[in-house]
Amino acid sequence: MKMIHYQFILLAALTIFHMSANSAASPLPSTAREFLESHNQARASVGVEPLTWSEQLANTTSKLVRYQRDRMSCQFANLTAGKYGANQLWARGETVTPRLVVDEWVKQKQFYNHSDNSCVPNHRCGVYTQVVWKKSLQLGCAQTLCAKEQASLTICFYYPPGNYVGESPY
Ligand SMILES: *[C@@H]1O[C@H](CO)[C@@H](O)[C@H](O)[C@H]1NC(C)=O
Ligand SMILES: *[C@@H]1O[C@H](CO)[C@@H](O)[C@H](O)[C@H]1NC(C)=O
Ligand SMILES: *[C@@H]1O[C@H](CO)[C@@H](O)[C@H](O)[C@H]1NC(C)=O
Repeated sequence: MKMIHYQFILLAALTIFHMSANSAASPLPSTAREFLESHNQARASVGVEPLTWSEQLANTTSKLVRYQRDRMSCQFANLTAGKYGANQLWARGETVTPRLVVDEWVKQKQFYNHSDNSCVPNHRCGVYTQVVWKKSLQLGCAQTLCAKEQASLTICFYYPPGNYVGESPY
């Protein structure tokens, strides 16, 4: 049995706010499928169309998590508003499954009020709103284990990016 330590630091794309594809034909690797299905369940539960997997985004996140592992002591990537939306999860301990990662992000749903597109004060909703952002169509994610830090880092990219200030996710 793997020990999973529920000691997460959530940061993220939650802080990537913006001012202003195609799915692979071949069968997806199981981790890709799990990332995709977990996202799409959260989207379906609020009536938002599914994301498709992007091998290009997956490759980009794969390079990024390895860079953060090898050069940045496994810290979160410093992602300022760019062409992709992004969510990240850092978890101490052993590997976390893609489903657990996405479930952790979706926990912010409890703080999000869709009727006026607000977040409960002193809480964050941006990771969740990126997951269910309707205009985001493509997803690519990667995870890495950081041996020295005994942690894992997961990064997902979304295209087009979500979390436009003042815009409702769906
Ligand atoms: C993604 O990376 C794999 C393995 O390195 C490579 O075969 C594939 O062509 C890349 N795909 C894209 C869309 O960049
Ligand atoms: C992240 O990058 C931006 C722009 O490159 C920079 O202004 C900012 O200081 C960086 N933040 C951290 C925590 O390194
Ligand atoms: C959500 O926002 C609406 C409109 O401002 C408000 O009436 C309602 O009480 C809020 N719901 C919760 C659970 O705070």
